[in-house]
Amino acid sequence: MFIPYSTPIALIDSGIGGLCLLKYLTRKYPNENYVYLADNENMPYGNKTAQFLQKRLLNLINYLYENFHVKLVILACNTASASSLEYLSKNSPVKVVGLNILNLIKDKDYKILCTKLTAKKYKELNIYICNKLAQYIEENIFNKTLLIKKIKSVLTKANIIENNIILGCTHYELISNIFKNVQSNKNFILPCFDFVNQLQITPSQTKVGDILMLSTKPSKSYIDKLWQIYKN
Ligand code: DGL
Repeated sequence: MFIPYSTPIALIDSGIGGLCLLKYLTRKYPNENYVYLADNENMPYGNKTAQFLQKRLLNLINYLYENFHVKLVILACNTASASSLEYLSKNSPVKVVGLNILNLIKDKDYKILCTKLTAKKYKELNIYICNKLAQYIEENIFNKTLLIKKIKSVLTKANIIENNIILGCTHYELISNIFKNVQSNKNFILPCFDFVNQLQITPSQTKVGDILMLSTKPSKSYIDKLWQIYKN
């Protein structure tokens, strides 16, 4: 019997952060094929310029489109979405979607935790830049004790009086449980969770559900790390 191959959905982040979006997405659409691309060669995205990221992401998308015929690209990264979504929507050969913090604010009292480049886009909002936090999470993802200590110190420094905290970087959302444990009196808002909830695609009819993990700095141990986090 001929089983049509369903072209994959691509997800891009600078590293491990977007895996939280992949986890939600594969739960909602288990029969899709996915390509997860970690641009760890350029991690952290938060310290790059918008111009650099726009060109870089367009190159990555062209690569994914030409080699895997991806049908949709998801920027599983707040920094990439804030800096480049508009540019990529105009220039990409395939549909690109991304995270949008603005949708989540409404009239709540909130503080957004994010990277330097995301903050540039949302200057007028109530923001706290967590300098180098994404790299710290990337490097210490398996050391819960260190992560708890780090998040405690970040939240103490940030001294947040608002009731709602938006985790505006996918690396932070990946460890949202730690944020919640450290500061249980706040409401944490999760952009990837909301994005996947809102996303409507026509599900693939083929029961395949393959996932391909890729990184731009090729290393077997990094791919193993992506799998380990995804399965966790
Ligand atoms: N995980 C990314 C984000 O959501 C970027 C982190 C970084 O590379 O600076 O913003």
